[in-house]
Amino acid sequence: MSVPRPAAVIVLAAGEGTRMKSTKPKVLHELCGRALVDHMLAAARGLTPERLIVVIGHAREQVQAHLATAGPDARAVVQTEQNGTGHAVRTVLESVGTINGTILVTYGDTPLLRTETLAELLATHAAEGNAVTVLTAEVPDPTGYGRIIRDTTGAVLEIVEEKDASPEQRVIKEMNSGVYAFDGLLLADAVKRVSTANSQGEEYLTDVLSILREDGHRVGAFVAADHVEVEGVNDRVQLAFARAVLNTRVLEAHMRAGVTIIDPATTWVDVSVTMEPDVVVHPGTQLHGRTSIASGAEVGPATTLTDTVVGADAVVRNAVCEGAEIGAGASVGPFAYLRPGTVLGRKAKAGTYVEMKNARVGAGSKVPHLTYVGDATIGEGTNIGASSVFVNYDGVEKHHTTVGDHVRVGSDNMLVAPVTIGDGAYTAAGSAIISDVPPGAMAVARAQQRNIEGWVERKRPGTASAEAARRARAGHGERTDVHGSAGQAEQGQQADQAARAGEQHRGSTK
Ligand code: UD1
Ligand code: CA
Repeated sequence: MSVPRPAAVIVLAAGEGTRMKSTKPKVLHELCGRALVDHMLAAARGLTPERLIVVIGHAREQVQAHLATAGPDARAVVQTEQNGTGHAVRTVLESVGTINGTILVTYGDTPLLRTETLAELLATHAAEGNAVTVLTAEVPDPTGYGRIIRDTTGAVLEIVEEKDASPEQRVIKEMNSGVYAFDGLLLADAVKRVSTANSQGEEYLTDVLSILREDGHRVGAFVAADHVEVEGVNDRVQLAFARAVLNTRVLEAHMRAGVTIIDPATTWVDVSVTMEPDVVVHPGTQLHGRTSIASGAEVGPATTLTDTVVGADAVVRNAVCEGAEIGAGASVGPFAYLRPGTVLGRKAKAGTYVEMKNARVGAGSKVPHLTYVGDATIGEGTNIGASSVFVNYDGVEKHHTTVGDHVRVGSDNMLVAPVTIGDGAYTAAGSAIISDVPPGAMAVARAQQRNIEGWVERKRPGTASAEAARRARAGHGERTDVHGSAGQAEQGQQADQAARAGEQHRGSTK
């Protein structure tokens, strides 16, 4: 099939879209990571048109602002008053001048239309030497659409709008999709001759077909294989339907390319997401934006990734990640939240109830449980004890914490930034680290423990606790005096505690 490059694609998007009942212009509503109009622009770009033109009108400031970033290659033409599809095209040609070559006209609200179908329309148009070729479809319920009127030989005569159709014409199930390939020069002439003598008092682009036919030109139709593709989005029910169809299409393409998707019904993947073969996606997973997942990685269940890079063989479970980079073989979750600027090295771990932001975690380092890491650099082979906080905010500014290689931060530490912990250092459980720790040192920063003997039996007599204490003392003699008695030398006790703090790393934070 030879597909001639169109001289222009004109996307009509000036209408109000009242049935969306939204303050947002219809064509900016999103599905699968792109606005409605962006899906159409993407399909059009597949044809490499010489010009890409979008007709805007209703809420044009918002649409124009969107196009400035999402479609800088598209030229916006303003249609101040929406006097019909014919008027929209006439406005374009008056604005940019006559276009010599094939002009494809489409709408901004048909996100399911594929480049392949548009290419087939163009190929038919060229092969048959038509002045205009309309894309049509047989639909189960043609209510609201223009009907394709053919003669007994099957030749297209005209398109009649629902509101102008006779009861016999309304029975016809072949609808006008609103997509056409036109000869540019013939269109420029014919669109000036479209009248407003119809039930809506509008300039109908559909009238160009009968005008060209009456001038003796060839008018043709290309019937789409799947009517779903040409159906537009007018309300939020149709938006949800289109989203589901598009999502299924995206998932099927990934599955055919080697990705395992356990439950397509609960998996939502934006069109911009990339996945390598042998990725496994578990149920309840949503992948958004520029997320990319390398081979062998497992994502989900119940995971939402936005603009996140997942390395080969990494495992990401029950997690929410935004703008994060997860290294090869790394492990995230269950129940982790990785925020922008998080970079997990090879085989690093962000475990259960862990939140990270603007944090680099070196290869093989682990942050296994209940921890917040904000504005930090952690070296390689380091372990952060459970329930620790990288205290990055002084109430006014954010500060950075640097933790070296092979460090052992004890459980329940507050690392008050700015602070640096040197390579190979240890910190004791329960420490508030406010000063730098030299390499290899053990930092102990907590109040001395004081045991007040017999306090419960004296202060809480008659309670279950007092009773349990009494039984223990009776059963175990005076053993309660052995540890922490007031008479013990402070030096010795501190050394003992530091040693025990070290032990606790093995006990509780792996
Ligand atoms: C139009 C067709 C109808 C077809 C249907 C398919 C005409 C007269 N009728 O009907 O045969 O079956 O589409 O959906 O063409 N627009 C503008 N400026 C305007 C008017 C419309 O840009 O002045 C844009 C709208 O934003 C929309 C598209 O053109 O994207 C279609 O407009 P709409 O009013 O929905 O046309 P229909 O009456 O549905
Ligand atoms: Ca419509």
